[in-house]
Amino acid sequence: MKLMFQWDENSIRWYQNASEYQPYHKTLARSLLEFIDATDTVCDMGCGLGYLSLALAPHVRRIDGIDISSEAIFLLREKIKEKKITNISAYVGDFENSTPPKTPYNAIIFCFFGDIAKYYTHAKEWTDKYIILVVNQCGSMNFTRKPHTAASMNSDYVADFLNKNGLPYKCRNLKIPFGQPFLSLDDARKFMEHYSDDNPNDIDRFLKEHLVEGEKGFSYYLPYEKSLAIFAIHV
Ligand SMILES: C[S@@+](CC[C@H](N)C(=O)[O-])C[C@H]1O[C@@H](n2cnc3c(N)ncnc32)[C@H](O)[C@@H]1O
Repeated sequence: MKLMFQWDENSIRWYQNASEYQPYHKTLARSLLEFIDATDTVCDMGCGLGYLSLALAPHVRRIDGIDISSEAIFLLREKIKEKKITNISAYVGDFENSTPPKTPYNAIIFCFFGDIAKYYTHAKEWTDKYIILVVNQCGSMNFTRKPHTAASMNSDYVADFLNKNGLPYKCRNLKIPFGQPFLSLDDARKFMEHYSDDNPNDIDRFLKEHLVEGEKGFSYYLPYEKSLAIFAIHV
């Protein structure tokens, strides 16, 4: 499986289209509110295009999105301006080489970013209440109906680390639709070539079996339900 998080013109467009097509980030944000209060300051570390930060903003005091990709942060800043949101800031930053803030956040979120075994000690310096992780449920499939491969993004891996180190946590499992809309069949093929290792014949067969008619101006839609695990670690 190829890496999901190398932003380029296409991966940015696909992600924007998927996020704006369906309420995935709103649903995810609502689930995180079990651990985040309206008066909290929050850091969305490895925020990518920042859709989770944008969905959380109405429910928190302040949220900072930080990502190593200057392109992702540029696009998030544009969205913040367009939507006239006043309680989000977006920064380019590398978590691994970062200095913790003078005033810790109340929660730091790692949503499909990072390796808790590597990051726990440093992450603890960033928050006075919760480290929140969003990862794939162990055994769940990716949108190509194959098991996820990134070990550190797997709920068993996270639970194992937390249990071995005696760190108390709460874990919530949930499923949220996050399929991919396409303007054309050609674009669907390009998407599969970008994200799967299948050969062109297998890609065509897969698309024939799974693509359905799209809505909202999109000709096609590839349905997919993401099975997520949320870990909240009280520091
Ligand atoms: C799989 S994406 C997840 C993005 C977003 N959290 C989401 O769920 O849509 C991983 C993100 O981590 C960012 N990233 C990778 N290494 C990083 C680092 N050392 N510090 C901060 N961000 C990093 C990437 O640029 C990418 O945007």
